[in-house]
Amino acid sequence: MTLPVLVDCDTGIDDAFALSYLACRPEVHVTGIVSSAGNVDVHAVHRNNLALAELLRTDAPVSRGAEGPLIQELMTAADTHGPGGLGHAALPPSGRIEDPRSGAQLWVDAARQQPGELVGLVLGPHTNLALALEIEPELPRLLKRLHIMGGAINHRGNTGPTSEWNIAVDPEAAQRVLAAFSAAPRRPVLGPLEATETLRFEQAELERARQLAERSGHPVAAILADGLRWYFEFHEADGLGWMAHVHDPIVAIHALTGQFASTYPLAVDVELAGTLTRGQTVGDVLGRWGRPPNVEVLTAVQPHAALEHLIGTLETAWV
Ligand code: RIB
Ligand code: CA
Repeated sequence: MTLPVLVDCDTGIDDAFALSYLACRPEVHVTGIVSSAGNVDVHAVHRNNLALAELLRTDAPVSRGAEGPLIQELMTAADTHGPGGLGHAALPPSGRIEDPRSGAQLWVDAARQQPGELVGLVLGPHTNLALALEIEPELPRLLKRLHIMGGAINHRGNTGPTSEWNIAVDPEAAQRVLAAFSAAPRRPVLGPLEATETLRFEQAELERARQLAERSGHPVAAILADGLRWYFEFHEADGLGWMAHVHDPIVAIHALTGQFASTYPLAVDVELAGTLTRGQTVGDVLGRWGRPPNVEVLTAVQPHAALEHLIGTLETAWV
């Protein structure tokens, strides 16, 4: 019995690692990939997702999401992920045909097809999930569970001083998603920066990714290795040293295994009006709002074991 998973991502180097991990896990069936604008524009994200879906041999339909956020102008991060979204990687031409449905419609159809069974993963901005909720308000009850990479609760941001990228790109969408899923049978799992940044790729992991590409000859291994090299160069230029925070995979790993991290319940909302703090995910740790918890926040990550599980999965599948 495989677990159906829909991945909404702004591919992106770390998104590509998460997609590869899921495609290499025998217990997973990726039933849909939604291309969301974020790291790069939606057309570049979609090109990346189509190519990866073909090279990873997943039969998942790949749908293009909206051009940009619900309200604000789209911002992208070519410096972080490269102009094409996958760093130094050169994508081979892809014959993969896109699914003609919108990303929002793919969310709705995938959830309706397997009520109560589909696990949703949001690894980019929440724009298309928010649009899907407009089509199908029952989505929180149709999904088995939602897992999100996003936010920073008791931690600095990586986009604004207090905001994390996936939330900062479309704060209105994130706020609507958290509000709608507050009534979900199982609280969404939110993987904030303080959890995801514990997964540090160091030189050893960069070397291991390069060796995997050489030993396996797998085209996606080459893409990941070339993408990772760009990611290291960005983190070094950003003053973080020769390393990379690879955010998305731990959310996918925990969604699948329930291992390598734990969670704690918290009431979380998104700041929309703050002049300095717009896009901040605010966690009511002391219960001042009097609201019940609406998310399970990822914490106590076991970074080395998680990294070994991630890279080991790719090596087992490709070598
Ligand atoms: O803040 C990190 C997140 O923003 C990751 O999902 C990365 O891919 C970017 O989308
Ligand atoms: Ca992402």
